[in-house]
Amino acid sequence: MTYPKYDQLYPEIKAALSRERFEHVVRTGEYAVHLAELNHYDTEKARIGGLIHDYAKERPADDFLAEIDKKHLDPDLKNWNSAIWHGVVGAEFAKDELGIEDEELLNSMRRHTTADVEMTTLDKIVFMADFLELGRNFADTDVARDVTEQSLNDGVAWQLEFSVTRLVRNHQAVYPKTIYAYNHWVGGK
Ligand SMILES: [Fe+2]
Ligand SMILES: [Fe+2]
Repeated sequence: MTYPKYDQLYPEIKAALSRERFEHVVRTGEYAVHLAELNHYDTEKARIGGLIHDYAKERPADDFLAEIDKKHLDPDLKNWNSAIWHGVVGAEFAKDELGIEDEELLNSMRRHTTADVEMTTLDKIVFMADFLELGRNFADTDVARDVTEQSLNDGVAWQLEFSVTRLVRNHQAVYPKTIYAYNHWVGGK
């Protein structure tokens, strides 16, 4: 399946995002290259995965709601919000507007916020690069980077534990797919 080159996508992503978020996705691409090198994965594809992952993040809710109907996506998505939509639904915009036909790239975008039980190497790279790009600076970033550089799978488990814990502490709902992912990657189920 085909996808445009990084240099071709770069101005389109830049035009779709605020400066701050654009810088985040570029850094995500850079960290994705680093993780790809450590895991013997295609560095150019990883860089593209990082660049496109938040393409839809700044779109209005109405765009996502209309797209869920148009593409007959899971109606339960309407009970959620942009935090979930920009990946799962955003991949539809990436396909139609950016010309990304490659399912592996589209899936890495779909899974970058929710994670999943089944994750490809690219899914894991984009998921971790979004979390650990060099602009990220939460407590334990260094620990999380060390864990992830040793083992991508351990990194996925680390992030899921961190993110689910934060949602629970803040009394926020956890997307069902993320609970299944947590049970798989952290709980060994
Ligand atoms: Fe995102
Ligand atoms: Fe992001």
